[in-house]
Amino acid sequence: MKLKKLLLLTAVAACILPASLKAEAGPEWLKKAVFYQIYPSSYMDSDGNGIGDLPGITSKLDYLQSLGITALWLNPIYVSGWQDGGYDVIDFYKVDPRFGTNTDLVTLADELHKRGMKLCLDLVAGHTSDKNEWFLQSKSGKDLRYSDYYIWTDEITDAEKEQIKRRYEAPDPSASTIGRFVEANAPRAKYYEKNFYESQPALNYGYANPDPNHPWEQPVTAPGPQATRQELKSIMTFWFSKGVDGFRVDLASSLVKNDPDKKEVSKLWQEMRQWRDQNFPDRALIAEWFNPDQSLPAGFDIDFYRVGGRPGSGAAPMNLFRLNSNNAFGGGNSPKAYFDRTGQGEIKGFVEAFDKTYSNTREYGYLSLPTGNHDSERMSQDPRTMQDLKVAMTFLLTLPGTPFIYYGDEIGMKQQFGLPSKEGSNQRSGCRTPMQWSDNETAGFSTASVDKLYLPVATEKGTITVEAEEKDPNSLLNYVKGLLKLRAGSEALGNDGTWIYVGKTEQPYPMVYRRGSDYEDYIVALNPSGKKVKATINAQGAARSAIVYTTGKGTYKIQPKGKGDIITLDPCSAIIVKLEGCQQCEE
Ligand code: GLC
Repeated sequence: MKLKKLLLLTAVAACILPASLKAEAGPEWLKKAVFYQIYPSSYMDSDGNGIGDLPGITSKLDYLQSLGITALWLNPIYVSGWQDGGYDVIDFYKVDPRFGTNTDLVTLADELHKRGMKLCLDLVAGHTSDKNEWFLQSKSGKDLRYSDYYIWTDEITDAEKEQIKRRYEAPDPSASTIGRFVEANAPRAKYYEKNFYESQPALNYGYANPDPNHPWEQPVTAPGPQATRQELKSIMTFWFSKGVDGFRVDLASSLVKNDPDKKEVSKLWQEMRQWRDQNFPDRALIAEWFNPDQSLPAGFDIDFYRVGGRPGSGAAPMNLFRLNSNNAFGGGNSPKAYFDRTGQGEIKGFVEAFDKTYSNTREYGYLSLPTGNHDSERMSQDPRTMQDLKVAMTFLLTLPGTPFIYYGDEIGMKQQFGLPSKEGSNQRSGCRTPMQWSDNETAGFSTASVDKLYLPVATEKGTITVEAEEKDPNSLLNYVKGLLKLRAGSEALGNDGTWIYVGKTEQPYPMVYRRGSDYEDYIVALNPSGKKVKATINAQGAARSAIVYTTGKGTYKIQPKGKGDIITLDPCSAIIVKLEGCQQCEE
């Protein structure tokens, strides 16, 4: 291309999009990171006891590498009381025997590093198990080393007492989240503050606005809360020294109590970020905050973007994937899912809210729309087909920020309904079933008998397994692999590439956005609806276009003289289009 033309092309692209902006000073490897979340009890069982383990995960690294994964996030692997799927930690410094040993963890990290991959653990920062040594000591008296690691009081309000009563009326009080306090009648005091279940006493990081009438509410600067902070650093240092590359921080936003604007907890994470930058600059901090506008300026490298708020939460009304309006984040009047053949979804709420958060935060770090997680229903459920899932994956894997694939979503593992609660999972069992590797009774997950498996396995008659999908060129697995390959080879489609919505939000189908870098530009157009759609968008300034990836069928046509570009998409289709040349500067 002639220099003049190249300069003009760059100028045209520049007026449409600012040059891609690199997220600030986070670890370099995050620029290309594609995460895979593993619920360790359900991934691969190497010793035949029916529960997944670390050597099992290590045995599957070639598979993960072939998929295009560059980093793992494991749900908690520490010694646990197993009242909340590992989120009730008894010993933060030791791998739970069900998963193996600390040495097995080092081996996993080493094997990942050999492949250029990374390992992130889950930092359960907000609470411990009520069987943790720190809690046992804290319970036994004041003025001991761990006494003030927790929050104790002899007085609670009548309303708080009423909550305790209501919890005890629940079918299983130990798996009920109702209320703030637990009656322990311990030598230390009568009640302790809990976070989630009563087996999860809250760690004491202090109160942002301590009430002078509540002497147990310590300021964040008090010795107890300061010691707890130091402990967090010790835990991270311990695992970093074993080769761990980062942490996803559980309940990161709620460590400091009575902190409505999150000012004090943000300061806490800013301190952690500084400490990380000085001591471990290449380790990642990922928030479970679900509010990148707060968490990224507070120092996190990545946070999850919540699509659709709880009704009444003030979050934008949007629903991309949720089919059951009454599930955890639903409500009777929540909008219809956008990714649905009925084509009754809206896109405006999402585009406006996402655009705002993305623009506010991209200089600080990355946001992520995960394919799923261990707390939410899987996207794959009736009446969705593999074709629907391909369109949804095209969306999720062409967004800016960091992709997170929840284990099994790459093969379309289905949400299971009607399963019993397992280790405090309640309704979350249905997204925690064993990974489906191959077509046998246990789906290749374990050599144990079926009745010994962590949760029942489902393979849809052997069709939804890694083995079957690897062999099928049209499988979701191969589609996802191709998408990740395309993403890995393109700065524009990658984590730092720019994103701008170019569709018309009043016409929800198709969804159309542009990804860009200094060198390349792509259009992604998606039609999850069951109807054929056509849309004219503003001219994107390209002379030529080429469809580089597709599922279903679509076209992209550039009209002469900048009269707009025309997109057509068959029902349930998606196209990724590469824009080339420069219309205005053709000689
Ligand atoms: C987080 C975890 C969830 C857990 C809760 C309490 O939200 O994702 O699984 O139950 O914290 O620790």
